[in-house]
Amino acid sequence: MIAPVFAAITLAVVAGAVPAAAAEGDARTPVRLPAEMRADFLAEMRQHMDSLDDVIAAVAAANFKDAAKVAREHLVPGSGKGFGRHLPIEFREIGLGMHRAAAEFAEVAEAAGAPPADADWRRVMAALKEISGHCRACHDAFRVE
Ligand code: HEC
Repeated sequence: MIAPVFAAITLAVVAGAVPAAAAEGDARTPVRLPAEMRADFLAEMRQHMDSLDDVIAAVAAANFKDAAKVAREHLVPGSGKGFGRHLPIEFREIGLGMHRAAAEFAEVAEAAGAPPADADWRRVMAALKEISGHCRACHDAFRVE
């Protein structure tokens, strides 16, 4: 009887300690957004994930024209929801960098031959990585509160 009780207490202590430890080791800069904006912001982020996946799917199908179209329609424009004035300048710069990388990707993808040559593949993959590199850089640097 004692062993299970001890195990349960140990588990509770460990479970309680995990979030605190994670927060202490979290070097990301917190960004404060008004509550109603926060939900919109995260919804926009999930949309980014969908768009990036759609771009990758089109690239995987060697359909560079569609990949360019998705990037241009969904990853180049900003949200237009006014998040910017709540965000630090470094955050906005990475965001702008991502929109520019998407525009650059669209140009590279559109310039590729059909069927694409090896060099076209390399250029398109490198341009795609420039987009995801900006997603990653911002996620490494910031979190929302
Ligand atoms: C300029 C900054 C920035 C850029 C660029 C950015 N994100 Fe985010 N994203 C964030 C922040 C901040 C969060 C919230 C993270 C947290 O609080 O833990 C987030 C959250 C997310 C989430 C989680 C959404 C949720 O419901 O919790 C997804 C998915 C996501 N981003 C995808 C992407 C993808 C894909 C890209 C690139 C195409 C991207 N993001 C580019 C800043 C950015």
